[in-house]
Amino acid sequence: MCGIVGYAGTAPANGTSTAAGHQALDVLMEGLRRLEYRGYDSAGVAVVANGEIAMRKKAGKLANLTAELAASPLPDSMTGIGHTRWATHGGPTDKNAHPHVVDDGRLAVIHNGIIENYAPLKAELVYQGHTFISDTDTEVAAVLLGEIYRSLPADESADGARLTRAMQLASQRLEGAFTLLAAHAAHPGTVVASRRNSPLVVGLGDGENFLGSDVSGFIDYTRRAVELGQDQVVTITAATVAITDFRGEPAEGREYLVDWDAAAAEKDGFPSFMEKEIHDQPEAVAQTLLGRSDIDGKLTLDEMRIDADVLKTVNKIIVLACGTSAYAGQVAKYAIEHWCRIPTEVELSHEFRYRDPIVDDKTLIVSLSQSGETMDTLMAVRYAREQGAKTVAICNTNGSTIPRESDAVLYTHAGPEIAVASTKAFLAQITAAYLLGLYLAQLRGNLFQGQIKDVLADLAKVPAKIAQVLENDQQIKDLARSMADTSSVLFLGRHVGFPVAMEGALKLKELAYIHAEGFAAGELKHGPIALIEEGQPVIVVVPSPRGRDSLHSKVVSNIQEVRARGAKTIVIAEEGDESVRAHAEHVFYIPETTTLLAPLLATVPLQIFACELAMAKGYDVDQPRNLAKSVTVE
Ligand code: G6P
Repeated sequence: MCGIVGYAGTAPANGTSTAAGHQALDVLMEGLRRLEYRGYDSAGVAVVANGEIAMRKKAGKLANLTAELAASPLPDSMTGIGHTRWATHGGPTDKNAHPHVVDDGRLAVIHNGIIENYAPLKAELVYQGHTFISDTDTEVAAVLLGEIYRSLPADESADGARLTRAMQLASQRLEGAFTLLAAHAAHPGTVVASRRNSPLVVGLGDGENFLGSDVSGFIDYTRRAVELGQDQVVTITAATVAITDFRGEPAEGREYLVDWDAAAAEKDGFPSFMEKEIHDQPEAVAQTLLGRSDIDGKLTLDEMRIDADVLKTVNKIIVLACGTSAYAGQVAKYAIEHWCRIPTEVELSHEFRYRDPIVDDKTLIVSLSQSGETMDTLMAVRYAREQGAKTVAICNTNGSTIPRESDAVLYTHAGPEIAVASTKAFLAQITAAYLLGLYLAQLRGNLFQGQIKDVLADLAKVPAKIAQVLENDQQIKDLARSMADTSSVLFLGRHVGFPVAMEGALKLKELAYIHAEGFAAGELKHGPIALIEEGQPVIVVVPSPRGRDSLHSKVVSNIQEVRARGAKTIVIAEEGDESVRAHAEHVFYIPETTTLLAPLLATVPLQIFACELAMAKGYDVDQPRNLAKSVTVE
C-alpha cells in the first residue's frame, strides 16, 4: 500500500555517479520499480538540487512518470524521495500524487498510510491561513510539518537537525498510520522519516544510505538493513543514520542482513513475476521445510518467546489472516485440529477485532501474512495480545511488523513475492502452518515422533510433485486460453479441497476479472446449484480415492449433480483416479499424496488456469486493477 523510497548519497563528481554514491534519481526510480507492487495509481519523485526542490509526479503506473522525466529531466542530485501510490484519500490524479511540496516549494513530503485526524488538523491549518491543493491527508501532514519547521530556530547544520525536530513534533500530532519521508531545500544531504503503524526499513550503504517501505526499495545497492521500531524518527545522510523516538530521545534499530539479493527479485526469464512465482513453488516449499528439525528429528521454530508450558495449556487456536493467506489458514485448520486436537477457528482479521471475540491467556493466535504488514492483521494481533493471548506469526518478510510484534515467529522462505496476487507464499504458508501443527502435536504429545516423521517425509516429497504438475501444464493452459470469453466459473471442493476451491476462485477474480465463486461441494444442493445452467463451467477439486472413501464418492456425486444440469465439468483429480473420467469434460491429474497435503498440489493447476486465462485476455497479471500487494490501511 504505497511504496516509498529515500536516498542520501555522496555528491556526484561532474554530474556523474561516483564510486561512493549514485544519482538520487537512479536510486529512486529503481526502488520505485521494485516497490510498484505496493500501489500503482500514481508515482512521483523529488530531489534536492541547487538549493531547491525539483519534483515530478504523474497519475498512473510508473511508466507515466518515466515518460514525464524523459520529457522534463530533473537536475543531478544526491538526495531525494520517491513514492508509488495506492489511493486512499483523494482519487488517483496528478494533483493527488506524492510528493506534496509545501513551505514555498522548499519542503517535499511523501506518505504511506492514513492520517486519521487529518480533518481537524486541516481545519486548524486552514484557520491559520493555509490553502490546500490536493484532496489528500498527506498534504495536511506536509503543511503541518512545514508550519512546525518554520516555527523552529534557523539551523544550517548539514544533518538537518531542524527538519528532524520538526518531524518529531509533527509526528506527535498525527494519529493513525503513517510512514512520512521529507526532504528540504535547506538541507541538501538529508532525508528525514517517521513511522507509526506503517513499514519503513533503512538500508546501510558505503557513503550512502537508503530508506524503503521494504528492502526491495534498495536491494540493488545493499543487503544491510535496519528495522525501525514503532513511533520512531530516522534521519539519514550519506554518512549517518540517527534514530530517535517522537520525543527526540535516541533510539536503536535492529541491523540484519537480507538473505536474498536483487537477482531473486527478477523474473528469471519468465514474462511475468506471476509465472515466475508459480514456478518458484517447489523451491518455496522446500526452503520452508529446510532446517526445521534438530539432530533428534525434533521440530524447532525460528523465534520462540513462549514457554513450552504455556503452549501445553492452550485450549483454542485462532488463525488470523486476510485474502489468500486466510485460505491458507483454512487449509491449516484441518491439519492442526487433526494432529493437535485443539479447537481451531480461522477468522478474517478485520472481522475478528470488531466482534468482541473470546480470547484469553489460553488462546494461541496464529497470524498468516506474506508481507507481515497487512494492517487488518496487525491490528487484530495487537488486540489479541492485549487480551492476554500468545501470538505466533507465520510470515514471509523478515523484520516486518507482525513478526516483530508477535511472541513467536515461523518464517516461510518463499523468497520475495512481487506479483500482487499471492501464489508461492500461499503454498509456503500451508507448509509452515503444518510445521507449526506438528510442533504443537510434538510438544503436547498428541502424535508419536514416528508419526511426525512420516508426515515430514511426505512433505519432503511435495516439491518434486509440484514440479511434476508444472511440467505438465500445457493441457490446463490450452483450456484456459479456450475459455477467455467465459463470464463466470464456479469452483467446488470438500474438506481441504474447499479452501482450495475458494483460492482458485479468488485467483480468477483477481487476475482475469471473471466472476468466480468457491463453494463447499456439499453445500451445493442448499442453494448454489440454482446457478447451474447449460454450459456453466464448474471446476471440481476431487479428493484422493485412497483417502476416506465417503469423501471421494460424495464429491463424484456432486460432479454428477451439476453435470446433469448442463454444467461443463473440469476436474482436478489424483493420478490413477479413473472414476472421474466419465463425469468430466476435462480431467487434470496431480500426483498422489496424503489428503492433508493435497492442497499443495491441487492449487497449482488453478493458479496456472487463472494466470493463463488473464494473459489470454491481455491483462497485466503482475499488477491487477484496483489491488495492492501489501494493504497497510484498515
Ligand atoms: C492483499 C493482496 C493479497 C493478499 C492479502 C493478504 O489483499 O492483494 O494477495 O493475500 O493482501 O496479504 P498478506 O501480506 O497479509 O499475506
